[in-house]
Amino acid sequence: MISTETTLAGIHFDNCLMNAAGVYCYDADELNQIQKSAAGTFVTKSATVVPRAGNPEPRYLSTPWGSINSMGLPNKGLPYYLDYVSQQQTLFPEKRYFQSITGFNIDEDEALLKQITDSDFNGLVELNLSCPNVPGKPQTGYDFETVEQILTRVFEVYEGPLGVKLPPYFDIVHFDQMAAILNQFPLAFINSVNSIGNGLTIDAATERVSIKPKHGFGGIGGDYIKPTALANVHTFYQRLKPEIQIIGTGGVKSGQDVFEHLLCGASMVQVGTALHKEGPQIFDRLTAELQTIMQQKGYNKIADFKGKLKYLD
Ligand code: FUM
Repeated sequence: MISTETTLAGIHFDNCLMNAAGVYCYDADELNQIQKSAAGTFVTKSATVVPRAGNPEPRYLSTPWGSINSMGLPNKGLPYYLDYVSQQQTLFPEKRYFQSITGFNIDEDEALLKQITDSDFNGLVELNLSCPNVPGKPQTGYDFETVEQILTRVFEVYEGPLGVKLPPYFDIVHFDQMAAILNQFPLAFINSVNSIGNGLTIDAATERVSIKPKHGFGGIGGDYIKPTALANVHTFYQRLKPEIQIIGTGGVKSGQDVFEHLLCGASMVQVGTALHKEGPQIFDRLTAELQTIMQQKGYNKIADFKGKLKYLD
């Protein structure tokens, strides 16, 4: 039997595949669909201190090569997601889930983590440091000093397994600098990458931008970003201490894409744009395609090839 199970932070997941935060995770109806799918678990939409309506519509567009979005963190607020996860924990006590959160400053991060500590949540926290779509708010992951300050406070106040969702980096020096910061902390994982921020797609026929917020600027996902995502996963895999595992996200729409993320060093793989396009049944197809590739290569489990990318020299 070819297994696509995985372990992250010592927690077992029957399948290495799951949704990316922002896709099929806004409310119970969407999360239920991921629960019923072949995904190994789910992550919620990034929860803020107070619920948010998000940016004006249209704010998401599928394109032939992927997507652009400027959702603006629409979410139902942390208590809603903690209640939902609590119900799932009761129904499926053997499973563990990811709660994504994002504060707009360190005090809000601390407040969100305190709410989680005071709840019965028994899963993993994904602290989102990379949303590109809130007007006037820069992507925290590009401000290295602030990342270090946030993580210092986070690990003073939170004891459960926690990871960070990072933006893509593009310069080797930045990978070195960010890895040096991340390695100082007892992170369970990083999730690499969020969308490539502030892209622009246009409709030549109408000569207009395709989404409304920020004069059309938004996060780019899908095919456009797979090489960047693979580079980030592998570069961090080479630089992070082994206790910090990697969730690979970006450009996954086939079993081969999943295989490539795992080969680059990911322990789990999230699906965003393609999940939005195809719906939760995509997890059956991706799992079957990954198993076929593994079978053809003689691999029975992810550990047989995880991180074993070969070089030409
Ligand atoms: O706009 C959004 O809600 C996206 C968030 C993210 O990319 O983290």
